[in-house]
Amino acid sequence: MPRSTIRDSFLRATEDLLRHGVSMSELRSRSIRVRVDSRKNPHSPEFRRTAIAVALAIGATGAIAFALNRILDSGVFGRCLVPGSYLSWESTRPVSSCSFCLGVENALQLPGNSTRKEFEPYAYSSRPIVVKGAASHWPASRVFGLRFFGDLYDGIEGAYESVEEDCQFLHFKSDFDTLRRVFSMDELPESWYVGWKNCHPGVLEAMARYYEVPRFLPEDAEVPRANYVFLGHQQGAPMHLDYIPRLMWQAQLIGGKTWRVAPTPECDHSCKSFEFSAAPGDIVLLDTRVWYHATFVDEGRSDLTLALASEYG
Ligand SMILES: [Fe+2]
Repeated sequence: MPRSTIRDSFLRATEDLLRHGVSMSELRSRSIRVRVDSRKNPHSPEFRRTAIAVALAIGATGAIAFALNRILDSGVFGRCLVPGSYLSWESTRPVSSCSFCLGVENALQLPGNSTRKEFEPYAYSSRPIVVKGAASHWPASRVFGLRFFGDLYDGIEGAYESVEEDCQFLHFKSDFDTLRRVFSMDELPESWYVGWKNCHPGVLEAMARYYEVPRFLPEDAEVPRANYVFLGHQQGAPMHLDYIPRLMWQAQLIGGKTWRVAPTPECDHSCKSFEFSAAPGDIVLLDTRVWYHATFVDEGRSDLTLALASEYG
């Protein structure tokens, strides 16, 4: 069976597990939960069937764990999300108190002209928020695109190298291995989605002419100079957590996206999963370190989806 087929199958299984709030420890325990107490005679057919079942279950669990490690290490979810391996990260992640998601059943919608004072009560909360149309006046929505970033990176010496060596390139489910490859394609695939972190000073300076840090963020918020671009057609990001030190804002500049968010598995019994939409010009605020999140590109709204994101905190 091709590796890509195996990878996609396990990826779908992982997404289902996360979406339904099943933890790996729960999976393990369910796989080997076989009643062996009443089957102590090693020569009985029943004992042998049980022993085989237990061995298969343990083997299958080990294989799944191994495969998931490999899949996730392979970069399907992107380097920023998995510092080493998903399983080791999951096993060392602090258990959530669930206070971040209790009673939260939708994204809070705020008007685009929200002031710092009006935004203040939510500024450092983990509540998913959509500030409607807050980025609609940015020139970036007219200027940014495949050609803009292709020309920008082609024209700045060391720009591509900065992504590969100091920043990040996230190919998600796409086959692209580098940003250079995305911009050099004569014809892009029907369905693709990538993200990358910009940290080259020349790239950041050119981008800064076309957007601003959201005006409603607190004056004392620390906003790193680096930013992320998410660009693609049809596809979005699979369900994941981000391994970043701060909160995140993401401006939807071209096309629309549906966000699906889910609490961490230990909070599944007390919190809910839900979806919300981001239209062009909307700014999404989400604590992507505690909310599992996946994005789905709204088809028909645009040929391209493009979002600009950065951390704050
Ligand atoms: Fe993410």
